[in-house]
Amino acid sequence: MRAYYFDNVPCDQRLAHEPVPSRPVSADTLAQMGVLTWHIPVAGYEDKVDEVARERGYKNRDTINVSREGMGEAYEAKIRGFFEEHMHEDEEIRYILSGSGFFDVRETPSDAWIRVAVQPGDLLVLPAGIYHRFTLDERDNIKALRLFQDEPKWIPHARSSATDINDHRVGYLRAIGVGA
Ligand code: LAC
Ligand code: NI
Repeated sequence: MRAYYFDNVPCDQRLAHEPVPSRPVSADTLAQMGVLTWHIPVAGYEDKVDEVARERGYKNRDTINVSREGMGEAYEAKIRGFFEEHMHEDEEIRYILSGSGFFDVRETPSDAWIRVAVQPGDLLVLPAGIYHRFTLDERDNIKALRLFQDEPKWIPHARSSATDINDHRVGYLRAIGVGA
């Protein structure tokens, strides 16, 4: 999947926000931030996704469908909520079945946004404690598997001075070799 520095231009979040010239970010750089990526073609994906799930201890999964048609009134609010910068105390794992969108992850200590453009077949793991947000693109739809270890919590903790000292945030920074 492609990743690049976000241009920070204040306009529609669904646009690519890719600067010209682009500033690409490699899978290795993402991995150093604890962001893991795989590509598993959707045709016959089950066995390979099962394998990753087994290796990483993801015992459960469900499917999420985000689209203007599917969600009606709730859509705009949902999309705004996903785009608020937050962290979780668990990994966020998504396998894209159809559609597309953008996960933005904060680089630390630069505090720059890196935009990860996801498409069908992309499997993305965001570590616990990383600040991130999500938006659909102009096609306005995505269908994804959400994988998880135990009971899904999916609690978004909006970035604040409290999350800056959250154990999972501090543990994340330590794991990537930044800060304490
Ligand atoms: C989530 C994504 C949108 O928390 O970051 O579900
Ligand atoms: Ni999230």
